[in-house]
Amino acid sequence: MKLLPDELQYIQNGLKKQNRSDARLDGKTCVVTGATSGVGYQSARRLAQAGARVVMLCRNAEKASLVQDELSREYQAESDVFIADMRELAQVSRAAKQIAGKYPKINVLVNNAGVFNRRRRLTPDGHEEIFGVIHLAAFVLTAGLIPNLKAAAPARIIDVNSEEHRFGGLKMNDLNWSKRLYIPLQAYGAAKIAQLLTGLELAGRLRGSGVSVYIMHPGAVRTNIGMNNDFLYRFYNHYILGLFLKDPAVSGEAVHYLAAAPELQGVTGNFYNQTIEEKPASYVLSERLRREIWDYSETVARSYLGDAYDI
Ligand SMILES: NC(=O)c1ccc[n+]([C@@H]2O[C@H](COP(=O)([O-])OP(=O)(O)OC[C@H]3O[C@@H](n4cnc5c(N)ncnc54)[C@H](OP(=O)(O)O)[C@@H]3O)[C@@H](O)[C@H]2O)c1
Repeated sequence: MKLLPDELQYIQNGLKKQNRSDARLDGKTCVVTGATSGVGYQSARRLAQAGARVVMLCRNAEKASLVQDELSREYQAESDVFIADMRELAQVSRAAKQIAGKYPKINVLVNNAGVFNRRRRLTPDGHEEIFGVIHLAAFVLTAGLIPNLKAAAPARIIDVNSEEHRFGGLKMNDLNWSKRLYIPLQAYGAAKIAQLLTGLELAGRLRGSGVSVYIMHPGAVRTNIGMNNDFLYRFYNHYILGLFLKDPAVSGEAVHYLAAAPELQGVTGNFYNQTIEEKPASYVLSERLRREIWDYSETVARSYLGDAYDI
């Protein structure tokens, strides 16, 4: 029963019983970014449990190696690690080419890595950091892996987005927050809107190719996000906000559902609150913004990937 208007439906959806799947992924290759913590780590575990080979794109080789050991010990899963600091698009582009070269067929790509900064930071490339890591890096990686996803069709791309896209904040004339006051939740919202709009556009462009796009909110879960900030924020995050957050295993379960559920085969271009299809916020999405952010992202990705850009 629908108790709330569309724009608030996400509150109700967050409380609903989520879908699950027992579908196996034996023999499938799943690429997961940010698999060393939180949602990405739980996703890697759940995909490995389902029999997948998990290819992790991470920045910390030591942490990644511990996850590899765990996947092998607990699930006898095959895994691989590629290293890139996703604040640097040249590193992402290099990793995309390495992954594409080693794995001609990629069945699932999970764009998960993310960051939340209370203070404005720029990447070495000069992009606002949240936007750079969450949106641009994922766009570059995805663009570089499209031929491999097509070669594995039916294949799936899962973008770990957020209900916080509802905060708005994406302005094409100020992607770097240099002309306005930096509002952390809106900077985060801006990156998520960019990811959402380009994900919707990508789904349209890939229609008929056998590659589907699923854009999801992983649940409000207890992870390390935000723990790179000041002491006060870390305290609030851990001891106050943390009381209301769920175990991130639910996010791993949701990512696995979107990656594997047979009933989703061929479905594309939808937003999910974990596993429940939901309308994203219409007030932050416009056709014009969608065109503009796509064109901008494509130009950036082409400049790093060169001929390897293939959408
Ligand atoms: N937690 C929630 O309630 C929630 C809600 C909505 C959406 N999300 C989304 O879920 C995704 C995962 O976040 P999380 O909550 O699981 O946070 P997390 O525990 O902090 O995990 C973030 C992951 O991204 C990696 N990462 C961060 N910056 C990176 C960089 N520059 N280069 C390469 N990897 C980098 C981290 O690597 P290290 O381990 O090396 O730090 C880590 O593996 C994000 O996109 C976030 O926006 C989370």
